[in-house]
Amino acid sequence: MASVLIVEDDENLRKILLRKLGERLSVKGAKDANEALELFEKEQQDVVLLDIKLPDADGSSLIEHFVRRGAKVIVITGYGDIRTAVECVKKGAFDFIQKPFTFDLLEMSVKKALKEKELEEENKALKDYLFGKENDYLLKTNNEKFKKVLKTADAVANTDLPVLIRGETGVGKEVLARYIHASSPRKDKPFIVVDCTAIPENLFESELFGHEKGAFTGATGRKLGLAEIANRGTLFFDEIGDMPLSLQAKLLRFVETKSFRRVGGLKDITVDVRIITATNKDLEKLVREGKFREDLYWRLNVVELEIPPLRERREDIPLLVDFFLKKYRKKIKPETMKELISYDWEGNVRELKNVIERACLLSKTPYVDEAICLKKKSVSCIEKMMERLPTLSELEKMYIAFLYEKLGGDVNKMAQVLGCSRRTVFRKLKELREGKTDLKDAPFTR
Ligand SMILES: Nc1ncnc2c1ncn2[C@@H]1O[C@H](COP(=O)(O)OP(=O)(O)OP(=O)(O)O)[C@@H](O)[C@H]1O
Ligand SMILES: [Mg+2]
Repeated sequence: MASVLIVEDDENLRKILLRKLGERLSVKGAKDANEALELFEKEQQDVVLLDIKLPDADGSSLIEHFVRRGAKVIVITGYGDIRTAVECVKKGAFDFIQKPFTFDLLEMSVKKALKEKELEEENKALKDYLFGKENDYLLKTNNEKFKKVLKTADAVANTDLPVLIRGETGVGKEVLARYIHASSPRKDKPFIVVDCTAIPENLFESELFGHEKGAFTGATGRKLGLAEIANRGTLFFDEIGDMPLSLQAKLLRFVETKSFRRVGGLKDITVDVRIITATNKDLEKLVREGKFREDLYWRLNVVELEIPPLRERREDIPLLVDFFLKKYRKKIKPETMKELISYDWEGNVRELKNVIERACLLSKTPYVDEAICLKKKSVSCIEKMMERLPTLSELEKMYIAFLYEKLGGDVNKMAQVLGCSRRTVFRKLKELREGKTDLKDAPFTR
């Protein structure tokens, strides 16, 4: 339910507003700035009704604080002059209401504020989905091999050549694909990921190319496919080695002509997309085994970029560690950094990122040292757990928690490793979270 914080020192007015707005919204009242900040800290309400003449502070000095945290602020004042109003709006206030006011006027303003907030959130979610989060990566390197890769990536960003990105899991293949998109003239258009491991074979064609109404049972309306949504942008096929053989011929035609038909459709649709693919599989072997079409392989593998595993570019570990630490404003001691540099990072950048972020969240001092060491200790904790001779169900929970950590919370991958459905993974994670487990102190549970 949408929530409103009413900051008003006049007790009568506060009570009336609480009662009236409380009929449809979740409302809290604060009599002064102090109380307002406390309540806001707890709930981060969507809208703040703010009287600017407060007993303990000038309410207008709070506007920026609330706005920065995403709230819409409606200023209420009995001393309404144009200058104050302009100042409040400059600080980011959404509206300015002068006392005395009718309740209808106030209610209308609250409704408008809520609507605007909802739209902003929707926009942000869509933007994150389409374009990915901006600048959430660091592509600086001290490694000669990776430098060459980045140089080639820069050079091909301006072209529409298909790129095949290779490398172990977690090295940053998707990151590099996003970088190429962001450095290309298509940067303001969608970047769409087709996760070839996550789409069931029988739905693949309609996911990719869309379908017409009535194309199959359950196709109740026309649906656009990812290829069409990506028009004028970039289409990124993640783990292309898992693309079902049955679809590879259609993909080949699409790569060659940029045209396709929706499932159940009669006319060809042509789009303008740049294609990037990634894999950590041995595609040549798949070709030899007849699991991947050779002609498609050559079409996709025009520019090949191979990202070296982290253990082969240890000189980049300090750069990445500093980058991940910065967000949490934490520091690291040289001896801890040394340990991190010498570690083998089988899960590559993903594993490093998880370790650092976990350490930041867990450490209470400005340094992450102790918390990181916890991770090393946790391995021997498993041995300790085994000494206790855990039950099968205990073991299961421990493994789920471990995988969650190891795979960075990627439910698709967890389902793949565990050999069960995503729904089962969700259920098991939910059980863990709800504490239907006596494993709260287990080494890997967060
Ligand atoms: N250069 C980098 N800077 C910052 N974060 C990075 C970098 N490279 C990878 N990461 C982080 O590591 C994680 C894995 O990256 P990404 O998904 O690109 O790897 P991948 O090679 O596609 O892995 P997979 O093979 O498992 O799909 C992500 O959380 C990503 O943000
Ligand atoms: Mg990936």
